[in-house]
Amino acid sequence: MSNSFAEPQAEGGETHQFAGGDVAVLTTAHGIPVADDQNSLKQGARGPILLEDSHFREKMFHFDHERIPERVVHARGYGAHGYFELTESLSDVTRADVLQRVGERVHAFVRFSTVAGSKGSADLARDVRGFAVKLYTQEGNWDIVGNNIPVFFIQDAIKFPDLIHAAKPEPDRDFPQAQTAHDNFWDFISLTPESFHMVMWTMSDRAIPRSLRMMEGFGVHTFRLVNADGKSTFVKFHWKPKQGLQSVMWNEAVKINGADPDFHRRDLWDAINAGDFPEWELGVQLFDDAFADSFDFDVLDATKLIPEELVPVCIVGRLVLDRVVDNFFAETEQVAFMTQNVPPGIDFSNDPLLQGRNFSYLDTQIKRLGSTNFSHLPINAPKCPMAHFQQDGHMAMRNPKGRANYEPNSWGAAQGGPREDPARGFTSFAQDADGPKQRVRSESFADYYSQARQFFTSQTPIEQKHIGDAIVFELSKVERPDIRSRTVSHLLNIDAKLAQTVADGLGLPLPDPAQAARPTMMDLPPSDALS
Ligand code: HEM
Repeated sequence: MSNSFAEPQAEGGETHQFAGGDVAVLTTAHGIPVADDQNSLKQGARGPILLEDSHFREKMFHFDHERIPERVVHARGYGAHGYFELTESLSDVTRADVLQRVGERVHAFVRFSTVAGSKGSADLARDVRGFAVKLYTQEGNWDIVGNNIPVFFIQDAIKFPDLIHAAKPEPDRDFPQAQTAHDNFWDFISLTPESFHMVMWTMSDRAIPRSLRMMEGFGVHTFRLVNADGKSTFVKFHWKPKQGLQSVMWNEAVKINGADPDFHRRDLWDAINAGDFPEWELGVQLFDDAFADSFDFDVLDATKLIPEELVPVCIVGRLVLDRVVDNFFAETEQVAFMTQNVPPGIDFSNDPLLQGRNFSYLDTQIKRLGSTNFSHLPINAPKCPMAHFQQDGHMAMRNPKGRANYEPNSWGAAQGGPREDPARGFTSFAQDADGPKQRVRSESFADYYSQARQFFTSQTPIEQKHIGDAIVFELSKVERPDIRSRTVSHLLNIDAKLAQTVADGLGLPLPDPAQAARPTMMDLPPSDALS
């Protein structure tokens, strides 16, 4: 075999350039052994490369196609494998198989993420963290696609594209990359007062976690558990870190981002490889419809949490991450979470944010992963028996077996394929729904400030100071004075001292408390009056 390069010597003088012993033969993607991977095929030593060089063409074409679109949100993430183990049976409130038998384990994959930054952004950005869990149950994959903050910015999914457009880099200049501090974000926020509860959380230390291992996770929405008798119980999901909850200071975050933008992923990788397996408890808040009606907010409103004093969190399981991925792209990049993946016994509420998410995730996975067959990828494939009549399409790897690819059919068990199972299959909770068809926001969603105030006042004085400092820092990056003042006027509805601190920090006059603004998009002057 000719090789015009000198052969580098490995440690100890042994060569590793050629196959033999334990070293596998290099092949093309089609398995043809490769003799020379250093030089393209040429006509003469100094001549042009030949079109005939199919090894070169295959290698280069594959390289040219390596990138897939990054996630439209949560682009930067890091995942690991582990298991979920049930510690308390929930058989009285749900028929979900994974929540029946204490001590049973199922395989889990978790992906943590930031939301606004691109795939290459820094880990310590002030941002919400995604906390997405895939449990491979015997009744299909259950995805709890949550965050490290228990509430969300908006109440209705139709506002999600606006929220994300406003949070991501501004379209003309394409910056800032991974921080919320800019005019568009605060413009949108200050025109969307429902966001202020979550804004308080994102300005708090929660948005700069010390480690992915030291964050809580929340399912955010109210879901339903449904038992074998068809009885429904509302549920909120919580992940509580056994490592405790820790954050860094903002000045530390800035330094860490500069010194090691991979700080969080390195920390998770190192901990798991050192055998220091991170662990979370699964907690549930359970309540029925009548109890839900007794709250002075709506449990369908994702900008509200259920105070733990009113409904305690019961611990029912543990999640342990004990294995890093073999390949980042195959597993962490290609994993496809979808809120609509719930096994029988778990169901949705009418939360209009959740309902919209249930539509969005299938669509986005087909776009991002490029084929309706993304569930054939090993990281997404269920680990339980699975049979259906979906077939073909790009990259189909699990086409139906047998003669029939439709049902009902009159072929027998061997040729006819799978059948429905009314007893074991998923059935939606039979909730009554009635009323006129209209674009509407329920009156019960109208209180924007009470829980923002509750969160702020629950913080220690030093934590409150951090929130004030963070808002001043963020708003100091906002150029337009009207956006700054509008934000401060919302703060007056939350806490007068906080509003004063921020106004002082920005050198702004405090708006008259009697005039504490409640502007919404509806109250705004025509847009040209704003500019
Ligand atoms: C990712 C849509 C609200 C948590 C995504 C992605 C989309 C999306 C399109 C990218 C998925 C991918 O390409 O893999 C939406 C819509 C929302 C919404 C339309 C509201 C209407 C939320 C909320 C939470 C959340 C409220 C938290 C409770 C996540 C997480 C990921 C994600 C954790 C990353 C999953 C991963 O690690 O792969 N979302 N989202 N999203 N979303 Fe949402």
